[in-house]
Amino acid sequence: MEKKILVTRLYPRAGIRLLEKENFHLTLWKNERPMTSMELIESAIQHHALLCTLTDRIDQHFLTQCRHLEIISQFAVGYDNIDVAAATSLGIPVGFTPDAMSEATADIAFGLMIAVARKMFFLHKTIINGQWGHFKPTGNLGCELKNKTLGIFGLGRIGVKMALRCKHAYDMNIIYHNRNRNRAAEKLLDAVHVDYEDLLAQSDVLSVHCALTAETRERFNRSAFKRMKPSAIFINTARGPVHHEKDLTLAIQTGDIWGAGLDVTNPEPMQPDNPLLFMENVCVLPHVGSGTKEARDQMSVMAAMNIIEFYRNGRVPHMVNPEVLKS
Ligand code: DGY
Repeated sequence: MEKKILVTRLYPRAGIRLLEKENFHLTLWKNERPMTSMELIESAIQHHALLCTLTDRIDQHFLTQCRHLEIISQFAVGYDNIDVAAATSLGIPVGFTPDAMSEATADIAFGLMIAVARKMFFLHKTIINGQWGHFKPTGNLGCELKNKTLGIFGLGRIGVKMALRCKHAYDMNIIYHNRNRNRAAEKLLDAVHVDYEDLLAQSDVLSVHCALTAETRERFNRSAFKRMKPSAIFINTARGPVHHEKDLTLAIQTGDIWGAGLDVTNPEPMQPDNPLLFMENVCVLPHVGSGTKEARDQMSVMAAMNIIEFYRNGRVPHMVNPEVLKS
């Protein structure tokens, strides 16, 4: 096929091989860093399709310059870097890669929960700093998770996997808050839908698994943290801007909540002198939720197949704005 595809990052070969087999003309960005907005526009102008990810700004300005694009295929489940409304009004289909990273991301949420409960990252640092000292009968105490209440904000594919881990490992009670009830998950997990207030008030561990939207942006702010238990652990593996980071810092410093596990920060990357990195009850990772070979390979295959199927059969198997192809 003569179609020219711009591939904006060094994606796993599994998906790239599929595109190569179709004889597309591929332009592969070979640098580790993402393209600047200008580089992205200048290059995309010369292509028919885009394989991009969350580090690429596909905003109104980009789309106005690149309105000729036939498809945008996002290598991620989240797509808050894309102005989907603008793409839709220009008739550009947007693909994404749901579920490919659900197990991987749930592992990170679950791991962070345990790491925070037992202060693992902090204690690791004490050894590096030569502070192991003696066994302390009343020191370095964490908390146990057995039979505690897990609150999920956004019980979708990843939230369900996190809840399953918590239920099987610790027999945790599952409550959740969604705009729409997830009845299949309620059955699977004995999960109870609660309003936002109850989610804040009842969760021992509150784990965020929602998309970043105008409605969820900085939803976890000073006022929300104040309504949580002082013993609560806050986990965010979804998108950093769902929490207000200074408010989170203050909430832990003042004891409004007990600790936090973050795979996403607000902003990213987190600066190395961020006070959260020096707190006992905080564990931070550099946005690696989907970072397993299996998940990333699968994401690259799904992102490639969205493009291949579009050009072969006029359909995009995993699509953010299906209305574009219906009209
Ligand atoms: C996603 O898929 O949205 C993750 O944040 C990156 O893989």
